[in-house]
Amino acid sequence: MKSNGCVAIVFALVATCFADWQFRSRPDLAPPRLNITVPAHPSAESGYIFIAQYNGFDTGSWGPEQPGAYIFRDNGDLVWSSVGYLGGWITNFAPIVWKGKLALKAFEGILDAGHGRMYGKHSILNEKYEIVKTVRPGAHRLVSCHEFRALEGGTVLVETPVSVPIDLKPWGGDGGQNWIVSNGFQEIDIETGDLVFEWYSLDHTDPKYSAFPLEKDGPFDSRNSTNAWNYFHINSVDKNDQGDYLISARNYAAIFKISGKTGKILWQLGGKAGSNFTIPDSVKFAYQHDARFLHRSADGDVEVISFFDNAAHSAGVFLNPFSRARIVKLTHSTGKAEEVHTYPAPDGLSAHSQGNAQVLPNGNIFVNWGQAGAITEFSEEGKVLFHSYLDSEPYGKNVQSYRGFRFNWTGLASEDVAIVALRDPENESEATVYVSRNGDNRRTLPSFRDASTINYNGSTNTLLIALQRSRYPSSYLSYQLELDPE
Ligand SMILES: *[C@@H]1O[C@H](CO)[C@@H](O)[C@H](O)[C@H]1NC(C)=O
Ligand SMILES: *[C@@H]1O[C@H](CO)[C@@H](O)[C@H](O)[C@H]1NC(C)=O
Ligand SMILES: *[C@@H]1O[C@H](CO)[C@@H](O)[C@H](O)[C@H]1NC(C)=O
Ligand SMILES: *[C@@H]1O[C@H](CO)[C@@H](O)[C@H](O)[C@H]1NC(C)=O
Ligand SMILES: *[C@@H]1O[C@H](CO)[C@@H](O)[C@H](O)[C@H]1NC(C)=O
Ligand SMILES: *[C@@H]1O[C@H](CO)[C@@H](O)[C@H](O)[C@H]1NC(C)=O
Repeated sequence: MKSNGCVAIVFALVATCFADWQFRSRPDLAPPRLNITVPAHPSAESGYIFIAQYNGFDTGSWGPEQPGAYIFRDNGDLVWSSVGYLGGWITNFAPIVWKGKLALKAFEGILDAGHGRMYGKHSILNEKYEIVKTVRPGAHRLVSCHEFRALEGGTVLVETPVSVPIDLKPWGGDGGQNWIVSNGFQEIDIETGDLVFEWYSLDHTDPKYSAFPLEKDGPFDSRNSTNAWNYFHINSVDKNDQGDYLISARNYAAIFKISGKTGKILWQLGGKAGSNFTIPDSVKFAYQHDARFLHRSADGDVEVISFFDNAAHSAGVFLNPFSRARIVKLTHSTGKAEEVHTYPAPDGLSAHSQGNAQVLPNGNIFVNWGQAGAITEFSEEGKVLFHSYLDSEPYGKNVQSYRGFRFNWTGLASEDVAIVALRDPENESEATVYVSRNGDNRRTLPSFRDASTINYNGSTNTLLIALQRSRYPSSYLSYQLELDPE
């Protein structure tokens, strides 16, 4: 490979096709291929798809070839691959606003799937995909992947589970069972790392009402810190303009609103006991993820929230045969929870773990079906406007993502342009030049764009000289933009 200014040029003398050679100019990249079964309808919200595929938990899963964070267009074209930028197990990847600008967040670490725990750090990347901040929690806590909710004002909400040694006899412990996970969250100042607020479940909830009673053996046998009883399991934290928090506790099958002043539970929705709202069959949910504040009436009597209702758990329990995204209205004066919208998973998908639901600016809802390995955009009324599986056979099967989103984004690649010239096997005098710049979606390579036929005479030297003389001699070569084609 030779470097010509900012341009790396590779001449391949044979144009043999290899099945997994998706990008001629970047043979090192092998991103998942979205298996789009419902192409994006014109009324799908504008923006890109942010997803982080990794190996599925279901038996018979394989792939993806390169797990990582990805940005795609609706037609499956790749905008950015995180390979070479982020390391380890990567998840919860999406744009955030930080210091008034769009940035990216991603969790990088390791996954302990058997215990449903993750160890790592949250990274913030700038528009050039450079890591500009590593966010670690305060007070010597370890952070989990589940949440990274950046707030106006420069703070962020993260989830901080901690194993605590206590005697579990009151909950059926046999004397050797002495460890429980007190699941908590912190609000921290991103810039300074200062702790603004923290909350731990064991101070406020009784493990007796966990949806998963203490077990004598298995990964939650509570005989040591790693195997601590994960009775609560927070997987999302949100905050409203009044300074109160909303948390989803999957293993309690309940959602809680927490006072930002006192840490007291203001209300509980669902769970084995203690729900402040009656729940009709149309609202029953379980083992949910991603609870978000949506609206509140001026007098505070009505609150509307969204969440992802797995209705199934990896522990092998089901409430409903398929998962769904939910919008639910809570009325304090009547004590009732009411269904606003339920968005059932296409193809009857059931997410035994993971998942999220994002209400978009135009009212559509973008859903990532977690372990079921698919994404869907629904209209507000529930029409499926887009549906895709996260990889395609034979490269990947049942590939999954913890969360998935739709957002606008402008990436300015910091990489050199990658170029490869491939001779046409049918005509020695012709070649096609393939050009890419990972992550750059500004379409700023106009000199490549209108080029048509080439006059390549089979000499690599000639082509090199021509490229050096005028950077991109559009009259000689036919160019193809990769990694963000028209
Ligand atoms: C915790 O307990 C499990 C099951 O008894 C065991 O396999 C594991 O090695 C223990 N871990 C530690 C750190 O003691
Ligand atoms: C929710 O229920 C608890 C326990 O009954 C009670 O203390 C609390 O005031 C209730 N919250 C609301 C908002 O009604
Ligand atoms: C795409 O997904 C559909 C639905 O699950 C499946 O039937 C089909 O085999 C998949 N195609 C590929 C290429 O993976
Ligand atoms: C993307 O930007 C357009 C234009 O401003 C806006 O209409 C749309 O809602 C944005 N999409 C998302 C997902 O925020
Ligand atoms: C091969 O390409 C050259 C240059 O574009 C063209 O003049 C010539 O006719 C082509 N030959 C064949 C057999 O198509
Ligand atoms: C290829 O182009 C070079 C430079 O223009 C020229 O010297 C050479 O004769 C050409 N070769 C053929 C086979 O046309």
